[in-house]
Amino acid sequence: MTDGGDGASGAPGDAGGPVRHVPVLLHEVVAALRPAAGDLIIDGTFGAGGYSSALLEAGAEVIAIDRDPQAIAIGRELQARHAGRLHLHQGTFSELDAIAREAGFPSVDGVVLDVGVSSMQLDEAGRGFSFRQDGPLDMRMAQSGLSAADVVNGADHATLTRIFGILGEERHASRLARAVAEARKTRVISTTLQLANIIEGAIGRRSGDRIHPATRAFQGLRIFVNGELHQLADALFSAERVLKPGGRLAVVSFHSLEDRIVKRFFQDRAGQASTSRHLPQGGQAVPTFAREQRGSVTAGEAELAANPRARSAKLRSGIRTEAPPRAADPALFKLPNLSTDQVTSRA
Ligand SMILES: C[S@@+](CC[C@H](N)C(=O)[O-])C[C@H]1O[C@@H](n2cnc3c(N)ncnc32)[C@H](O)[C@@H]1O
Repeated sequence: MTDGGDGASGAPGDAGGPVRHVPVLLHEVVAALRPAAGDLIIDGTFGAGGYSSALLEAGAEVIAIDRDPQAIAIGRELQARHAGRLHLHQGTFSELDAIAREAGFPSVDGVVLDVGVSSMQLDEAGRGFSFRQDGPLDMRMAQSGLSAADVVNGADHATLTRIFGILGEERHASRLARAVAEARKTRVISTTLQLANIIEGAIGRRSGDRIHPATRAFQGLRIFVNGELHQLADALFSAERVLKPGGRLAVVSFHSLEDRIVKRFFQDRAGQASTSRHLPQGGQAVPTFAREQRGSVTAGEAELAANPRARSAKLRSGIRTEAPPRAADPALFKLPNLSTDQVTSRA
């Protein structure tokens, strides 16, 4: 699907039209969730509805959430086919427990997250996620808030360096930030190709490079614009609160920054690490999750051959225990202190 690891910037649609999202690790996700007739499951990343469809087919009732209004609009067709069993909500998965509660469901049997962007988002030039085709420098999944162009034109050098370096894992981050700051003195940076060209001009393209030089910077911008790491951290705490004892949580991630958060959460909650600062003196951490499968599940050869996007996907899952939810302490994840509040809009 992309040459960019998690699909932050490449696009599969060289033929032109939008490509429908192919669900990644679908069989493995269904195996982890074990949906049964009458179960209630939250799909926190509805996208093209690949997971939701499989859950509905298995007889479950699904609360589907997506922050992208377009995904929700497309989901209406699936909703009509499964009368009364698919509840669609536009919103963020960081609040999945509140969304379920407001919809009248105080607890659920499963939660699934497939974090990142969908093929439809990547593929549509107008959404501004991809440098493979020119489009407005947007990248907002929810189509609201600060855009990537606002960030690129409004953030100071230090913030840009941290976005490219920490969130994009780009080792030439400072050089890139300087090039961006220089370029925007003469002209507002408003399109994806304009930014990709500035980046390529600043760090060049070495022969044998597997990915385009702009891939990492685009990833960093996308994560920043959508607050993706904080969203994921909060979603895990939300899932812990809303799952019934015996309920199942399955999370698919596409790059190491996300996977580290999921791994850390399960390590902490399944009692593999007793780091909680909220325990009484000398107290024992009571696991809130049990792991059926330690470590992560990755795609098999057949899936990799059919869908290259699966290459970097990792699934981690756990089963909720009887223990009450623990305090939602974001310090657990040591997230970088980077938010769009640090950026002044161009508008
Ligand atoms: C990889 S796609 C999911 C594809 C889906 N599993 C399928 O099979 O079609 C990720 C989706 O999650 C949505 N998303 C990403 N972050 C989100 C968040 N914080 N809250 C709600 N939806 C989010 C994106 O808008 C996108 O539609």
